[in-house]
Amino acid sequence: MKRILVTGGAGFIGANFVRYLIEHSDAGITVLDALTYAGNLQSLHGLDRSRLHVVVGDITDAPLVDGLVADADAVVHFAAESHNDNSLFDPRPFLDTNVVGTYTLLEAVRRHEVRFHHISTDEVYGDLELDDPARFTETTPYNPSSPYSSTKAASDMLVRAWGRSFGVRATISNCSNNYGPYQHVEKFIPRQITNILHGVRPKLYGTGANVRDWIHVEDHSSAVWEIVNRGTPGKTYLIGADGEKNNREVLELILGLMGQDAAAFDHVTDRPGHDLRYGIDSTMLREELGWSPAHRDLAAGLAQTIDWYRQNPWWWEGAKAGTEDRYVQQAAARGTEDAGTAGGGA
Ligand code: NAD
Ligand code: TYD
Repeated sequence: MKRILVTGGAGFIGANFVRYLIEHSDAGITVLDALTYAGNLQSLHGLDRSRLHVVVGDITDAPLVDGLVADADAVVHFAAESHNDNSLFDPRPFLDTNVVGTYTLLEAVRRHEVRFHHISTDEVYGDLELDDPARFTETTPYNPSSPYSSTKAASDMLVRAWGRSFGVRATISNCSNNYGPYQHVEKFIPRQITNILHGVRPKLYGTGANVRDWIHVEDHSSAVWEIVNRGTPGKTYLIGADGEKNNREVLELILGLMGQDAAAFDHVTDRPGHDLRYGIDSTMLREELGWSPAHRDLAAGLAQTIDWYRQNPWWWEGAKAGTEDRYVQQAAARGTEDAGTAGGGA
């Protein structure tokens, strides 16, 4: 692969993927990113600019996308509106970017016959019961719950249709919840770490029984690179690292690692429609491509992540107050208590 177009390369996972490519490949990289509230060029600081070209622009801009795709050997598509809570507040940008943006890219890769890899989420499958031994596989029916997950599901369907109807060489990966450096402070783990660093009590939605299947972002990057190089066009791969934990357990781990009492958090009003549990069976990826995660110890990964947020306030401080203000506005719009104060839950 000589030149890879990475959409959303200034976001959390996209920027980590660009860093992974710089280290583990000799590809030239073009990032296309609109620099929404979630994009941050500082996430690409320190990288070799002779191999990295950044274009600030929107994936729904068809002429711009067409020119960039024409020059690429592969497109890896991370750009999305990615936060469930925001999607409950204002779904429209999720439709525009996740659905129309993906369509715009598909039309360009179709015209120029460029290999396409679509980054998606396990949330397209809906949720599992807490006591269900089953996990998601590539054949689990789609059953998304939120505007975010339904627009990701729609984008996956577009990718499959463009593969079947127009012969686009496309793969899809559906990954579980990522954690690691450069994650926006709106998301659960960085929100709680940075709250604690500010002397603010962390906020747990509802009882905290909801389970997420955590994977370190470096492991997501290594899996995606394997799929881009050796995956079979037309196929979907599930990426996961056997990291299921409930939110309360994760928060208690963070509190312990940061020298806080395990009970030093507040329960706040639950997210409407909150998915109960996600769990990934990644057997196909492991058996077909021989991939396995390098980070297998969540406590060690969290300790490294906490250390990163402690060392790099310059990266996240600018977004913190605005993010917390947005949470307060969202709670007010729902008519629930300020998400910054103790609300419902156990
Ligand atoms: P993020 O919100 O941190 O980053 C998204 C990036 O896309 C930002 O840089 C933003 O500026 C850019 N962007 C948004 N709209 C755009 C547009 N119209 N045109 C161009 N750029 C635009 O998201 P993330 O957490 O890094 O997620 C990346 C991808 O991975 C998404 O497709 C998401 O659905 C998927 N995913 C995320 C997770 C997770 O745990 N975060 C898990 C599985 C899959
Ligand atoms: P999040 O990082 O938003 O990811 P997702 O909704 O894609 O799973 O949230 C992870 C889990 O943490 C989810 O169950 C909601 C919960 N959560 C809290 O308990 N408190 C918070 O402040 C946030 C942002 C999330």
